[in-house]
Amino acid sequence: MRIHSTIASLRAALDDGGRVALVPTMGNLHEGHITLMTQARSQADTVVATIFVNRLQFRPGEDFESYPRTFGDDCEMLAQAHVDHLFAPTEAEIYPQPQGYHVEPPPEQAGILDGEFRPGHFRGVATVVMKLFQIVQPDIALFGKKDYQQLMIIRNMARDLNLAVEIGAGETVRAADGLALSSRNGYLGEAERTEAPRLFRLLTKVVEEIRAGNRNFAGLEREAMEELARHDWVPDYVAVRKRIDLQLPTAHDSGLVILAAARLGRTRLIDNLEV
Ligand code: PAF
Repeated sequence: MRIHSTIASLRAALDDGGRVALVPTMGNLHEGHITLMTQARSQADTVVATIFVNRLQFRPGEDFESYPRTFGDDCEMLAQAHVDHLFAPTEAEIYPQPQGYHVEPPPEQAGILDGEFRPGHFRGVATVVMKLFQIVQPDIALFGKKDYQQLMIIRNMARDLNLAVEIGAGETVRAADGLALSSRNGYLGEAERTEAPRLFRLLTKVVEEIRAGNRNFAGLEREAMEELARHDWVPDYVAVRKRIDLQLPTAHDSGLVILAAARLGRTRLIDNLEV
């Protein structure tokens, strides 16, 4: 695997790379990322991973500074996954001057759910992903379903702006007890780690209820939030939405997803399950 810290070096290496797959990450890699790398490997001649902790998508007071940076381990995992190129730029390489132009996703997509609690987050994500698309010019780019809203926004950005890139999705990878793998799981203390799979169990229960015919979505959301609060979580939302655009479903809609975000101690966890 070749490691590039500059755009010029990466671009030169990708000349003649055949079909290129891109997997953007912020590092601190886990099995969820590696599944995306494997998917990318099977769909392209050249696989490019990126590691860049993107300041633009963090709000003041969020965990930009403390976000886990584990470059050595990440490199080993990527090499084992047969990634061809790792692009790991400095902040000055990506933002040589303060970013003037931004990609502004529409508020009905970026101002709801996580966007309501992290204003500006998806603008930061869309902007850096657009920049990475311009730098790498991939034929396909892969994102995990764990960040369901992010995936929808990037898909819509690619469609609305006629980007010549196919967007692929990877299933959420879970620990044996159901907890969705996430770089932020490392923030959990021992007791919190034991408690954390409750989120997955709750979502599973809601999915089962809906499959059994319960269409009182608001009631199901409220009960799930109350259950979390009873166990010392601080829930931001539990929401049943349409998969296609994450808008509110009617009682007759199919193709649903249930999404949740909640704080356990100082750790904010998100998860979702398709119904
Ligand atoms: O999902 C992530 O890790 C990030 O949001 C991404 C897509 C790499 C953009 O910084």
